[in-house]
This record gives sequence, structure tokens and C-alpha cells, in this order.
Amino acid sequence: MVEIQHVTKIYKLNKKQMAENKTNSSTKVAVRDVSLTAKAGEIFGILGPNGAGKTTLLRCVATLLTPTEGDILVNGFHTVRDGEQVRRSMAFLTNEVKLDVHFSPKYLFWFFGRLYGLSDEYIEKRQMELFSYFGITEFENKRIEELSTGMKQKASIAVSLVHDPDIVIFDEPTNGLDIITARAVTDYLRILRDRGKLVVISTHIMPEAQKLCDRMAMIINGSCVFQGTLQEALALRQSDDLEDAFFELYRQATEDK
Ligand SMILES: Nc1ncnc2c1ncn2[C@@H]1O[C@H](COP(=O)(O)OP(=O)(O)OP(=O)(O)O)[C@@H](O)[C@H]1O
Ligand SMILES: [Mg+2]
Repeated sequence: MVEIQHVTKIYKLNKKQMAENKTNSSTKVAVRDVSLTAKAGEIFGILGPNGAGKTTLLRCVATLLTPTEGDILVNGFHTVRDGEQVRRSMAFLTNEVKLDVHFSPKYLFWFFGRLYGLSDEYIEKRQMELFSYFGITEFENKRIEELSTGMKQKASIAVSLVHDPDIVIFDEPTNGLDIITARAVTDYLRILRDRGKLVVISTHIMPEAQKLCDRMAMIINGSCVFQGTLQEALALRQSDDLEDAFFELYRQATEDK
């Protein structure tokens, strides 16, 4: 379970960032008082346009950033005070994860498996499952630098999941992937959900969210403007297209200003 309680994240901007953002303010509120709960056995979507604060929020959950205010509990462990336990129960995936280019998928899989203190039998079993599912076996001994973007993404997913975590956080899971690889990834997220794991994804692609997510939060300008099931989101506009609900929420949020 992931419990986000009144989380605010404020970045300090340097002069260059202030110029880039065309602002005189030396701070940027990226996430504003967001509270939400995501539970085992569901795919929970953090939805919102570019710059909404999705990555910032997920990085706070993954212990990579410290919230300016508020608390996050992951299976009861506090992301700031119990970072080690939080990291053991989760995988944080993003298309920016860079595996060391000099090593092979198999080498890295075993390296991280041993880092987690897993037994050889366990790593072997996980390798069989993940490498065959993602079709990594045929290039398991090639160096990462020799692999295509899709192959690298598959390898980094497999390596990140070696310890079979309860919670999988995936920032923009299909970003940059062709439709075949994207489908393999989203199907695997469903398998994880069906095995009782909690999967939290971020996306700005509403059709993807509609197909994948059981529950969702919509983030606009750092604030959570909706949280509920897919059906509740669709009911906002009595529509069968999640994009309609999103545009309604976006209109309300920007009109209020
Ligand atoms: N390290 C940083 N320092 C300063 N500002 C930042 C930093 N990272 C993000 N921001 C700003 O915080 C806001 C939220 O960014 P974030 O990356 O969380 O959004 P996002 O919803 O993931 O967007 P995208 O869909 O483009 O990935 C943006 O205005 C961004 O410019
Ligand atoms: Mg992002």
C-alpha cells in the first residue's frame, strides 16, 4: 500500500532555471498538498499533462526526493525515515534508467540479485521467468551498448524486478517503445496486478490510462483534482472516453484561476 499524505514538493530554482521558467520567483511548487492511497491488487494511474508534477510525486514515493511537506508510507514504512525498507519492497522504473553500457543484461541481473542478497536458485528462477517473458534470453550476453532502445528497456525492467517487489512504480511505462514492446510491458503490469502486486504508473496518455488503470488521480499544476475509479472518472462526463473527463477537469482547474 502507498499512502501519500498532504505532500508538497517545492524546488529551489537557480538563476538559469528562473530564466528558463520566465519567472522572478526562486521557488517552484511542483506538487501541492496531494493526498492519495493506492492498494495492493490494483493498477493506480497518476495522470496529468506535461509538467503537472507526476514524476516529482513518484520520485518522492521512490525515496529519490524528500517531500518539502507531508509524509509517504509504503507498506507502513516512511519514505524518509525507513528508506531502506521502502526500497526493498519496491521497484522504480522509468525510461531514463540507464544500465551500465559495458555489461550484459544477464551480468546486471545477477549483480543486482546478489546485491539484494537473493540466493542463486532464486535469481535463476527469476531470470527464467523474466528473460523468457520479455524475450531477453537471445541477447542476454550482449553488452547493453549493443542493444536497441526497446531491448534496453526490457533489460532494465527485468533487472529492476529481480527481487519480485510488492510494489512497482513505473513513470511513463510505454514512453519511447514500439507498440509490440509497449504491449508486452502493459500486459506484464496486468500480470503483476493479478498476482496481487500494487502497480503505480504515471502517464499523460488517456487511452493508455483507460485501458490499464483500475483507479486514478488526475494532477493538474501540482494539485490533485480528482481521485477515484475509472468508472467514477468516466461518470464525470457520462462518457466512455476518459479524455472527455480529463478535459472537463482541466477546464475547471484552469478556469478557477
Ligand atoms: N529538479 C528540478 N528543479 C526545478 N524544477 C523542477 C525540477 N524537476 C521538475 N521541475 C519542475 O516541476 C514541475 C513538475 O515537473 P515533473 O517533471 O514532476 O512533471 P511531470 O508531470 O512528470 O511532466 P512530464 O509529463 O513532462 O514528464 C515542472 O514545472 C518542472 O519544470
Ligand atoms: Mg514526468
